[in-house]
Amino acid sequence: MMHSAVNPFYPARRRSVPGIIPLSARAMEKRVIGTATLYRADCFDVLPTLSGIGAVVTDPPYGIGFQYRSYDDAPERYDDLMQRLVPELVRLTGNGPCFVWQSPLKADRWHRYFPKGYRIIAACKVYPERGERPRCLSWDPVIFWSGRSLLKDELPRDWHLADLGPWDGYTGDNPVPCPRPLAQVRYFCDSIPAESILDPFMGSGTTGVAAFLAGKRFVGIERDPVYFEYACRRIETAWKEHGHAAV
Ligand SMILES: C[S@@+](CC[C@H](N)C(=O)[O-])C[C@H]1O[C@@H](n2cnc3c(N)ncnc32)[C@H](O)[C@@H]1O
Repeated sequence: MMHSAVNPFYPARRRSVPGIIPLSARAMEKRVIGTATLYRADCFDVLPTLSGIGAVVTDPPYGIGFQYRSYDDAPERYDDLMQRLVPELVRLTGNGPCFVWQSPLKADRWHRYFPKGYRIIAACKVYPERGERPRCLSWDPVIFWSGRSLLKDELPRDWHLADLGPWDGYTGDNPVPCPRPLAQVRYFCDSIPAESILDPFMGSGTTGVAAFLAGKRFVGIERDPVYFEYACRRIETAWKEHGHAAV
């Protein structure tokens, strides 16, 4: 029997989203904003061309049927995505440090993809009340690995990250349905000693903003043109406001 693990807090996936704009095959665009380099592209086209990446802080699709504007987050695509992604991240960073958000619904599969000795960090957020659903606490697991350092070298405390302010990710004009809470992403970007940070699944650009706030160079990749434009605007605003801190 097929096990269908759909997060009850997420809207059900629809195979065809009205108004969806198909991505032109292998479209690519590069923009530089301050010390950030942003690509509108499939990350698997760009990653082989990159070098000199200090660390990865990223939030890839979880394979749980999440409803993105143009990416099909079908559970059956998760294996392939992770099998391609992790070796690229290992190669690019010289084996870490890498921080990769995941869904707890895939916890039984992580050992298949992540390098031996990976650690699991428990980030948390509070979902606000939504319709019938009461306010509740959610666990956002973040996978960490590094062949070059220990978790305690990258983060000041290695057992959990709690961001217990109500999360407003479902409100505002952000077109990405599940932006990371900025406080979570800042925690990593502020703490890790690397001078440059890569996010190959940039979405609305939260990691780019956090990287600027931390004074670090950023490389971001996003395939969806609407998300990409939003991320560019957000990162440009952050650069104007905080760019002086960037290296
Ligand atoms: C979980 S969301 C990232 C959200 C982001 N952390 C934020 O705070 O807005 C994952 C993103 O990966 C993008 N994506 C999926 N496959 C991709 C690929 N092969 N290359 C680049 N982006 C991709 C999706 O369009 C989506 O925006």
